[in-house]
Amino acid sequence: MRTAILISGRGSNMAALLAAMRDPAYPARPAVVVSNRADAAGLALAAAAGVPTAVVESRGRPREAFEAALQEVLERAEVGFIALAGFLRVLSPAFVAAWEGRMINIHPSLLPAFPGLDTHARALAAGVRIHGCTVHWVSAEVDQGPIIGQAAVPVLPGDTPETLGARVLAQEHRLYPLALAVALGARPPLPEGEAILCL
Ligand code: GRF
Repeated sequence: MRTAILISGRGSNMAALLAAMRDPAYPARPAVVVSNRADAAGLALAAAAGVPTAVVESRGRPREAFEAALQEVLERAEVGFIALAGFLRVLSPAFVAAWEGRMINIHPSLLPAFPGLDTHARALAAGVRIHGCTVHWVSAEVDQGPIIGQAAVPVLPGDTPETLGARVLAQEHRLYPLALAVALGARPPLPEGEAILCL
């Protein structure tokens, strides 16, 4: 499946997906990496991996114009599936409807807990003992689409948003490639002995 990865920044989840896509047996191929910010560090990572990149600037532009330009890039790259990976722009109901069943996202919490931003600080403030990440289908309501997979981590004494976030991020990098394969109907077996991944 020709897959676009949409980013806004660092691109570590994108890198995890690209690494998985290097395996010929993996069901997705990178068609293009698109950023809505020209300064996203992930663009250089994608280029270094030999993956086509595009910038569709979102700042200072009406949403319709941004999404029309994005759609054009996706069509030119013959994209059949979209993986949002740290993409910080909310997509319109019309764009989401156009890609229904063909677009997934990774979110750094165990949804439906902590939708939105600052999830690690909010998890600590709430006193939860277990935190994690979720890959879900994208629906019109932000962070509310059907869940494809989750990975959980413990919250440890002395955790800061940074230490907890790093623990979650390591799991995001394991979960996202597995969940994308599941979303594409390939359903790979879980790694042996992994009780924390609930795909
Ligand atoms: C990740 O924590 C992801 O779950 C969230 O934004 C962050 C992006 O990080 N949606 P990266 O750009 O993949 O490194």
